Amino acid sequence: MADMDGFKEAEAYGFGKPQENTAFFLKGNENRGWGVKNRLSRIFNPETGRTVMLACDHGFIMGPTSGLERIDLTINPLIEYADCLMCTRGALRSVIPPTMSKPVCLRADGGTSILTDLNLNRVYDIEDVIRVNASAMAVMVAVGDKASEQMTTHNLVHTVDMGEKYGIPVLGVTAVGKDMVRDARYFRLATRICAENGASFVKTYYTEEGFETVVAQCPVPIVIAGGKKLPEDKALELAYRAIQAGAAGVDMGRNVFQSEKPLAMMQAISAVVHKGLSAKDAFELYNDAK
Ligand code: 5RP
Repeated sequence: MADMDGFKEAEAYGFGKPQENTAFFLKGNENRGWGVKNRLSRIFNPETGRTVMLACDHGFIMGPTSGLERIDLTINPLIEYADCLMCTRGALRSVIPPTMSKPVCLRADGGTSILTDLNLNRVYDIEDVIRVNASAMAVMVAVGDKASEQMTTHNLVHTVDMGEKYGIPVLGVTAVGKDMVRDARYFRLATRICAENGASFVKTYYTEEGFETVVAQCPVPIVIAGGKKLPEDKALELAYRAIQAGAAGVDMGRNVFQSEKPLAMMQAISAVVHKGLSAKDAFELYNDAK
């Protein structure tokens, strides 16, 4: 029983000040539970509504790709410049310090590698996702791929069911098969399927033509992957154009950790995403940064 000596009567009832009901800042996520919204608010900056995610999950299909040979040496120093880290549970447990405070978007599926048929994946147990304190689960969805479309869509559906149960949002990742055309028409289809099946946000690729239509028809936020390494000015241009077309951020990997100056690249991308810096100014920032 609390000590009642000196008990102060409650009196600050705020009469005349209605309790505020605030709309949630992220497109299409208003009707989710508190846990999902709270986790999304850790990934997306509520001030800008955007995010810079640092992707380093490539090893789960590619092995030790260039720049990720030693995640402890190349990625750990960058974490503080990202809004969110996207990685596998293996990387988390083996090399990411548990003392870091950034939210984790956990790669939540695994299966086949670049040596066989990609995307024949199964998903992690939700208990393990909770154990590593993930703020979101990322699942691959291979729309249009005969071998893996059904399995990966089912993975998304299952992960969303689990996520809704425990308050963890799901990132639908549009996987593009070798024979798939990477155009706005395809990405409208793929991103919409992810959102309609319950993803809270969707990761896809930027398209030169019609990317604004991909964003407009997707009822939840879109973040773009960087794709293969480009010259730094081109990668910044890609990020800039995607943001101008309505993307809510980036989830970039190779264009950061394969850059000559990964830390400077993180800073420049962040300025494009959160401060609306032009690609040209961001490239100057990149060159000026150590
Ligand atoms: C693979 C992924 C990767 O994380 C993604 O492709 C981002 O990395 P990059 O910017 O190197 O393309 O989701 O499915």
